[in-house]
Amino acid sequence: MSHLILGAMVRTIGAYPSGWRYPGAHRDPRLDADALRRTAAIAEEARLDYLFFGDWLATGHDLEFVDPYLVARIDPLSAVTYLAGHTSRIGLIATADSNFADPYTLARATASADVLSGGRVGLNLVTAVDPRSAANHGRDFHTTNGSRYDRAVELEQVLRRLWDSFEDDAVVADVASGTYLDASRLHATDFHGEHLSVAGPLNVLRPVQGHLPIVHSGTSPRSRLFAAQSADLALVAVNDLAHAVSIREELRALAFESGRDDRTLKVIAPVLPIVGETRAHAQALAEDLAELVQVAEDWPEGPPAGFPAQRSLAQLASHVGVDLSGRSPDDLVGPDLVARFGEAGQVLVEIVAERTGRTPTGERPPSLRQLLVAASVNASMIVGTAAEIADEFEAWADAGAVDGFNVLSAVQPAQFEEFAFQVVPELQRRGVFPTEYEGTTLREHLGLERPDNVHVTGGDPNLAVARR
Ligand SMILES: Cc1cc2nc3c(=O)[nH]c(=O)nc-3n(C[C@H](O)[C@H](O)[C@H](O)COP(=O)(O)O)c2cc1C
Repeated sequence: MSHLILGAMVRTIGAYPSGWRYPGAHRDPRLDADALRRTAAIAEEARLDYLFFGDWLATGHDLEFVDPYLVARIDPLSAVTYLAGHTSRIGLIATADSNFADPYTLARATASADVLSGGRVGLNLVTAVDPRSAANHGRDFHTTNGSRYDRAVELEQVLRRLWDSFEDDAVVADVASGTYLDASRLHATDFHGEHLSVAGPLNVLRPVQGHLPIVHSGTSPRSRLFAAQSADLALVAVNDLAHAVSIREELRALAFESGRDDRTLKVIAPVLPIVGETRAHAQALAEDLAELVQVAEDWPEGPPAGFPAQRSLAQLASHVGVDLSGRSPDDLVGPDLVARFGEAGQVLVEIVAERTGRTPTGERPPSLRQLLVAASVNASMIVGTAAEIADEFEAWADAGAVDGFNVLSAVQPAQFEEFAFQVVPELQRRGVFPTEYEGTTLREHLGLERPDNVHVTGGDPNLAVARR
């Protein structure tokens, strides 16, 4: 039976720029091993489908303010392999960068993690955009978007051929005859593309899942085509419900055109719920988090190097269409000022009212900082009680906007616990999310079939080239 897919996007120090500053939040990455085990235990108790580890192959001052979790963190495949030994049911998805990954090494590490976890590992293939990642991998220039996707297509094909090196029954281990391996069931990879060339076979058994479920996250038309042709899960960035419906329809249509059963492509949206016992509690937390986000004017001598340019009153002024010079981020925004805002500014006022309950005509008007944070911090935030957040999830699923959600938590572990132990039970009570794990592998959690071996079905190694 198909149900809502729910995964947790793991960011140990929180998925909001100021989350680590909140009282009681995990903030020391030296203790990440404990934090990872605790997150995994909570997620598994709530019976989430998977933990999802994104990645970024560079670091720097700028990330401190944009996404502090990215500054110093555990490598995703290491985290997944570590957690394979500390969990028993939940899926574990690691991100790898298709630009720089060596196919043999990636196939080997992921197949190993899948065998070690009993078939619970997935692979998110991304085509990184940060030019610093090129310099970190001995490349002197970042290649074009098209070329990065060409390599991703080849990588996906070659990974499948490598994972399928051994047929499921290739190792005979027949003591009586002394036959260990049926050599006819071990296959060379023999892939020769424009970007990748791999002889094979792989020196790890076929993964428990056959092929690991492949996730792709991206936004461009080329990204959509790649997800539709090559991925099991498409992780998409969406602005609102209507946008999500159209993206899912487009992805499904592209999958169908490429000859796939389009129902096998699951579309997942990231979401950041702020959960409170009452709506007012949730709004107070959203407000506190916004107040803790620094903006350029907090440094009278100017912000530190790498501070995001869009987080300044000058940028807010151009967004709302009103000169804000001479004002302070903590100035309140009353009806007279709002009356002069353009359309984008009016939308911002509505977003802040929804998140914090503050309105320009109310007793406690919003501050300029709150408007600026809403405009410059990228987060699909839903603020409310467990029932209100469940309502929203259900509405999206019923509208055909998504097959599931990757849930981010602003404050770790408190907000993740609220989600796991308040929102998930509410979804279970409504029958949209199961109360028990029904299968043992990540594929089973996602409702995906185990694929045939491409060497047995005669998969074409040059399909990658034909797909462009
Ligand atoms: C929801 C979402 C999550 C992403 N997560 C990652 C990530 O963890 N690591 C990464 O390097 N890129 C990540 N990306 C970036 C994409 O892989 C891709 O590099 C970016 O979207 C630019 O390519 P595009 O213009 O084709 O979409 C993510 C993109 C989206 C939409």
